[in-house]
Amino acid sequence: MRIDSCRAEDVAVLERFMPSHSVDGSHGARFARQEAGGSTYLIPWLDGRPVGHAEVRWTGCAATEVRAARPGCPEINGLFVWPATLRSRGIGGALVRAAEELAVARGTGLMGLGVGDDNPRAAALYARLGYRPVVTYVDRWAYLDVDVDGERRECADPCVFMVKRLDALQA
Ligand SMILES: CC(C)(COP(=O)(O)OP(=O)(O)OC[C@H]1O[C@@H](n2cnc3c(N)ncnc32)[C@H](O)[C@@H]1OP(=O)(O)O)[C@@H](O)C(=O)NCCC(=O)NCCS
Repeated sequence: MRIDSCRAEDVAVLERFMPSHSVDGSHGARFARQEAGGSTYLIPWLDGRPVGHAEVRWTGCAATEVRAARPGCPEINGLFVWPATLRSRGIGGALVRAAEELAVARGTGLMGLGVGDDNPRAAALYARLGYRPVVTYVDRWAYLDVDVDGERRECADPCVFMVKRLDALQA
């Protein structure tokens, strides 16, 4: 497996293998943020096809609660491995590690990520990787409902933001 930042020509490939109906979380939106310099969109590739994604948002988490508690902390957003049969093989952990290495290379000593209260397995993975909960918040996002003519649906998920100090990685 290799992990690369997204290229323009990858966006259509990602959409084919992992269709996204999220508004801010579409592959096109994530690539556009990368091109604007606000993030790095990491893609793991296995046997020539994309098998997940993670967006490292250097501008931090959008939630005001998180920005107040940890100003300037970058966020790993949209961590995802697909198809589900490829989960529990280390791809998600490798994406987190790749994001941390990018942060260290930029001189950033912290990394954070949010996890939904209904996702204890992901929270357990992050705890194993060294992340600790610091603040609860509500993740507000929207998607286009393909079953109802692409109608916009608003979501509000209770989450916890977890943070890891990266000093140890720099040694
Ligand atoms: C969370 C996720 C990115 C982890 O990727 P991964 O490649 O399975 O991660 P790793 O193989 O490095 O680590 C596996 C661990 O991830 C956690 N995990 C969370 N959800 C999981 C799932 N649906 N299937 C398998 N493992 C999951 C478990 O702690 C698992 O440990 P276990 O195999 O001992 O149970 C992946 O499971 C996924 O895409 N889940 C659906 C989307 C999601 O929940 N994203 C996280 C949003 S905060």
